[in-house]
Amino acid sequence: MNILVIGSGGREHTLAWKLNQSISCSNLYVAPGNAGTAGIAQNVDIGVGDFEKIRNFIKEKDIELVVVGPEAPLVDGIREYLQSDDELENLRIVGPGKEGAQLEGSKDYAKQFMIKHGIPTAESRTFSKDELAGAKKYLKTVKMPIVLKADGLAAGKGVIICPKLNIATKTLDKMLGKGMFGAASDKVVIEEFLAGIELSVFVLTDGISYKILPEAKDYKPIGENNTGPNTGGMGSVSPVNFAQGDFLKKVEERIIVPTVNGLKSDNIDYQGFIFIGLMNVKGDPYVIEYNVRMGDPESEVVIPRIKSDLVELMAATADRTLSEIELKIDGKTASTVVMVAGGYPEDYEKGDKINGLEIKQENTIIFHAGTKMVDEGIVTNGGRVLAITGLGDNMSEALDNSYELVSKIHWDDVYFRKDIGHDLMLLE
Ligand code: AMP
Ligand code: GLY
Repeated sequence: MNILVIGSGGREHTLAWKLNQSISCSNLYVAPGNAGTAGIAQNVDIGVGDFEKIRNFIKEKDIELVVVGPEAPLVDGIREYLQSDDELENLRIVGPGKEGAQLEGSKDYAKQFMIKHGIPTAESRTFSKDELAGAKKYLKTVKMPIVLKADGLAAGKGVIICPKLNIATKTLDKMLGKGMFGAASDKVVIEEFLAGIELSVFVLTDGISYKILPEAKDYKPIGENNTGPNTGGMGSVSPVNFAQGDFLKKVEERIIVPTVNGLKSDNIDYQGFIFIGLMNVKGDPYVIEYNVRMGDPESEVVIPRIKSDLVELMAATADRTLSEIELKIDGKTASTVVMVAGGYPEDYEKGDKINGLEIKQENTIIFHAGTKMVDEGIVTNGGRVLAITGLGDNMSEALDNSYELVSKIHWDDVYFRKDIGHDLMLLE
């Protein structure tokens, strides 16, 4: 099968890495890809939003399966665009249509969906631009801290936790009143703060049945002990020890089943990944967000734990035959440590030569995110540069593998968190 992966991050390198291992994978392309995907697939110089070029490329290369990595093209309707072409009738696409993608594209839409289908989530109210006065009044009635969420896509920056009323009021002014996130904050969801431990749960659905993929924990803040500004993710681990047995059963019964059934009863034909960000509040799960794609860096620990053939799983998702497939999961623990450019998530340099990428180490995989191949070799080309995944029989073995290789890879001003997984080891 000829396959096209859309995207250029660590998630897409991981998907390509796993697809490439399948005997059913013929030609594998990644658009636009990075220096890591260039080593296992053919990079195609087409941006994720250039639907016309993507469509033409699919026709030219007889692509049979498209796996869409990031959310933006899904929210912008890449599925409908490709499907509207008669010649692409038989193209398999993994990733929901425009309506399903609203689960991530609009926090208010996601909230209404959860309320309608009885899915546990934090209390909230949504206000639009012309309701600023009412929103401020409402703020005076809620408990602090409070969470303000820009309704639309804001590159992972649209959620602000405000410890006090005066900060919340000022932040609301900026978001709703001054367009802090452009059109994305034309509406703001004001949400109850949930205290607990976060967990990322991944589901693959063909619109009829579903498979639950391995869960993961993401480390979002830039600094150790979860301090400083949020990033796209500084590391992750899977499995997550507090999320086994009873808790996962609650997640399936209270969240996954009503989500998949809710999509069906709302006539939203959803074929793709559902990433459920949830909070474990004293043993009960509450949804804090839906994403309509795999997580990054969660993919770098979830995908390596999938033993089943990923091409088969992706094709079955598009063919609505997921129920016929057995999902096999590796019992090993996986950890990933993200190496970033100094300064990230604010300003950072690009173009620094990366040394040590040739080093091979057992049970350790180098996934590229922001990297690029130039004449002198591979250089940094983004904030998050590499994700180093270690596998082991337990968390400490996996982390030892990740950190051993991390210590051998350098560039000017590299930074990484040294405490990935430490909180969970304390629970072991
Ligand atoms: P998001 O951009 O939706 O992933 O949110 C960013 C982060 O904000 C999440 O990973 C949580 O750590 C935090 N967060 C979001 N909603 C809540 C909430 N209701 N209570 C506490 N923390 C939250
Ligand atoms: N790691 C969080 C995300 O992919 O949104």
